[in-house]
Amino acid sequence: MSNFAERKPHAVLTPYPLQGHINPMLKLAKLLHFRGFHITFVNTEYNHKLLLKSMGPKAFDGFTDFIFETIPDGLTPMDGDGDLSRDFQSLRESIRKNVIYPFRELLTRLHDSAKSGLIPPVTCLVSDSFMSVTIQVAEEFALPVVLLVPSSACSFLSALHFRTLIEKGIIPLKDESYLTNGYLDTKVDWIPGLQNFRLKDLLAFIRTTNPNDLMIEFIIEVVDRFNRASAIVFNTSNDLESDVMNALISMFPSLYTIGPFTSFLNQSPHNHLTSLDSNLWKEDNKCLEWLESKEPGSTVYVNFGSTTVMSLEKLLEFAWGLANSKKPFLWIIRPDLVIGGSVVFSSEFVNEISNRGLIVGWCSQEKVLNHPSIGGFLTHCGWNSTIESICAGVPMLCWPFFADQPTNCRYICNKWEIGIEIHTNVKREEVEKLVNELMVEEKGKKMRQKIDKLKKKAEEDTRPGGGSYMNLDKVIKETNIEWE
Ligand code: UDX
Repeated sequence: MSNFAERKPHAVLTPYPLQGHINPMLKLAKLLHFRGFHITFVNTEYNHKLLLKSMGPKAFDGFTDFIFETIPDGLTPMDGDGDLSRDFQSLRESIRKNVIYPFRELLTRLHDSAKSGLIPPVTCLVSDSFMSVTIQVAEEFALPVVLLVPSSACSFLSALHFRTLIEKGIIPLKDESYLTNGYLDTKVDWIPGLQNFRLKDLLAFIRTTNPNDLMIEFIIEVVDRFNRASAIVFNTSNDLESDVMNALISMFPSLYTIGPFTSFLNQSPHNHLTSLDSNLWKEDNKCLEWLESKEPGSTVYVNFGSTTVMSLEKLLEFAWGLANSKKPFLWIIRPDLVIGGSVVFSSEFVNEISNRGLIVGWCSQEKVLNHPSIGGFLTHCGWNSTIESICAGVPMLCWPFFADQPTNCRYICNKWEIGIEIHTNVKREEVEKLVNELMVEEKGKKMRQKIDKLKKKAEEDTRPGGGSYMNLDKVIKETNIEWE
């Protein structure tokens, strides 16, 4: 612990307990630490055990002014092996009901430690927007709250209109046939900031026929808490989502684009936090060695993130499409990617891909994306993957799965023109064709030029004097999250 006679500001950060939420929050924590904050980073006990298991027992020790704390997620304690099968719905409900009490206890403990002079007093809460039940406790302690939206601003904008979607009779859908009868192709021209959008491009949670859908209820609840925050921050930049930001600013004046975090961190001087990471699965580093043997820009990287699942049938369509494209590929297949079991490929497939394809269970995605051998990314369009790909200048093939991914896909393919969408009902012939379009044809080359421009803009935005850089300054100075 440092001497805090200097009265360091102290931020407590509460990520939502999923990989795609912990990662951006940890990056934001590093950025605040670079700006002189003492950090308390709060994981759930369940995730903390998984992180220690995948990254080693000392992974979180010894960082100056960067402390990790845990609270229970309220679900049954994990067994020793700690599989990742937290059911989303149970997790969401449990966080809603069970987190307030242990979080209050934690803040009380931090408050007492500060009174004893052991740590600097807490000056703010930085919470994931999905974790915003914590606001109640921050209010009890009179702490300003910064909400981090870990998804794109365009998907956030569609969430803001869920009430109107209900009023207009769009959600819930009348019946299941509305999912496939072309209804989702209906234009949405009444949300300022979203251009050329269809119903299918909005948050996928609208695809429900249930009038009491818990996810819809949850999103509305989350949105209703936004006006209790001192600031709302996004892992995006004004350059990337200007139309959306213009529309949002008129609704929430204290809204700031402070990303891409990746670009910020790439430009920060290396220091002792560089090694600090948040992988719930163990990284397999042999893929980085393997990439060394491939030609520059030759290899397709395939990764569907931490939550996507698919049938074995669909997985095999991807597999044979990749094999038939004859391009080298690195494919990350999580142990729980395929619904109902693990994957065993036929010897025919294994022989076909021989040393052209490598399949591993988890990787350091940012290291892979930034490897010179990678020329394209087949992705599910999670926001972190999207923004990490932009920061690496790698164009995409898009197979959105759920949540904000269809919205991100629309931006990637139509707004920024840096990706091509694969049909939901994926077929091997399509995968083969689109891999070639992306990797060797003119269309792919144009997308590469466009994403390169976005990458450079992101770098400008996050340099001293850039838009996101100055916005981060504003968040710190104007929202009283540090000492006056
Ligand atoms: C989820 C949602 O799907 C996403 O749309 C939302 O915006 C955040 O939460 P997830 O599906 O996991 O996240 O996708 P994504 O947002 O892309 O996040 C995955 C993160 O895990 C990325 O930061 C990625 O770099 C990392 N990752 C993934 C690895 O480091 N290694 C891997 O092998 C896979």
